[in-house]
Amino acid sequence: MELTPRQIDVVDSVRKEDPKILLLSGAKRAGKTYIGILLYLAHIAQYEGQGLSFIIGGATHASIRRNILNDMEEILDKDLKLDKTNAIEIFGNKIYVFDGANADSWKKARGFTSAGAFLNEGTALHDTFVKEVISRCSYKGARIIIDTNPENPAHSVKKDYIDKNGQMLKSGRLNIRAFHFSLFDNIFLDPEYVESIVASTPTGMFTDRDIYGHWVAAEGVIYKDFNQNKHYISGEEFQEVNIVKHFAGVDWGYEHYGSIVVMGKADDDKVYLIEEHAAQHQEIDDWVRIAKDIKERYGNINFYCDTARPEHVVRFRRERIRAINADKAVISGIEEVASLFKTDRLFVVSDNVERFKEEIFLYVWNENTGEPVKKWDDVLDAVRYAIYTEFKPARRKTR
Ligand SMILES: Nc1ncnc2c1ncn2[C@@H]1O[C@H](COP(=O)(O)OP(=O)(O)OP(=O)(O)O)[C@@H](O)[C@H]1O
Ligand SMILES: [Mg+2]
Repeated sequence: MELTPRQIDVVDSVRKEDPKILLLSGAKRAGKTYIGILLYLAHIAQYEGQGLSFIIGGATHASIRRNILNDMEEILDKDLKLDKTNAIEIFGNKIYVFDGANADSWKKARGFTSAGAFLNEGTALHDTFVKEVISRCSYKGARIIIDTNPENPAHSVKKDYIDKNGQMLKSGRLNIRAFHFSLFDNIFLDPEYVESIVASTPTGMFTDRDIYGHWVAAEGVIYKDFNQNKHYISGEEFQEVNIVKHFAGVDWGYEHYGSIVVMGKADDDKVYLIEEHAAQHQEIDDWVRIAKDIKERYGNINFYCDTARPEHVVRFRRERIRAINADKAVISGIEEVASLFKTDRLFVVSDNVERFKEEIFLYVWNENTGEPVKKWDDVLDAVRYAIYTEFKPARRKTR
């Protein structure tokens, strides 16, 4: 079995330093989970046939299946089916599988004595769950392996573990060893694939985290790859574009601006913001009128709606407007829109937008929370709901 140089560093550390807690943090697709699984299996094998308990933790049972169990099945060449206690048997030991994303997840691990744990995507787990699992690993020689993508540098996984890299236990055993991975560490990825990932990852935080694996705060303007010299087109230029599908995004607002945007996907897969309707102090009747007018002109298209006002969504449906609850995942949605700008696949018909022109430069990250500042986001939220929800099925397929 071949390993990347970074993975070999990790194996060397485990052999020579025997850390109790091993952290593998960094870029996506860098080879963190792969080496984590190998080392965890090797760890369990050391206790072969002893009937001990081990833990695998991940955000959800589905993500554990996808990220860990499938690969383990391949390596072990055996089916790993959970029994009714949510456990699997490996090398004569029991491995319990816990989903750890919620505030009360830690209770599942309560009262356990474990000889080891593998925690997948550490930042997706609840902090109390991570801490409970670590404290359950009290069996002699127990090891905890945590893999994760980077997040805000203030995240507990960073502050409580990675920043304590090198910490020793009173016994003289190394407590914590942390490794950093970049995308380029994974020499087994197809160079063309790496090139395309680099080209399509938005500038700023997304590149710093997803490509280089750094724990950076989000800062400044959110859509850094928007370029007004490239991404605005005139109404006249737009006449040449062949749109094959229209869809709309809706962000409810009253004191804040409410907005409806009409988007189009062209025959070359480029996406266009075709119309913006944004206003304050509009009643739902006004939005119904605008949506009906859009339906009149573009046909019975999908309206991907903010779910914050379900009664408005219901009203739209009663008016025979095809209102669909939008997927509002903030960071993933922003990444999707930002990636379209980065790859020059999202354009804005400048004659038909007004508020967009302000928001695109004023929509910024809150450095402390790592979330967008909830201002200057009304049209941009409608755009995000439309794009993220419309393209979700395709995205699921390519994964
Ligand atoms: N030593 C290796 N030999 C062959 N393939 C490898 C090796 N290491 C990693 N890979 C493959 O590279 C891909 C990415 O690896 P892995 O899933 O471990 O990345 P990751 O760092 O966990 O990424 P993510 O953050 O996206 O979960 C996988 O398809 C994995 O099977
Ligand atoms: Mg992984």
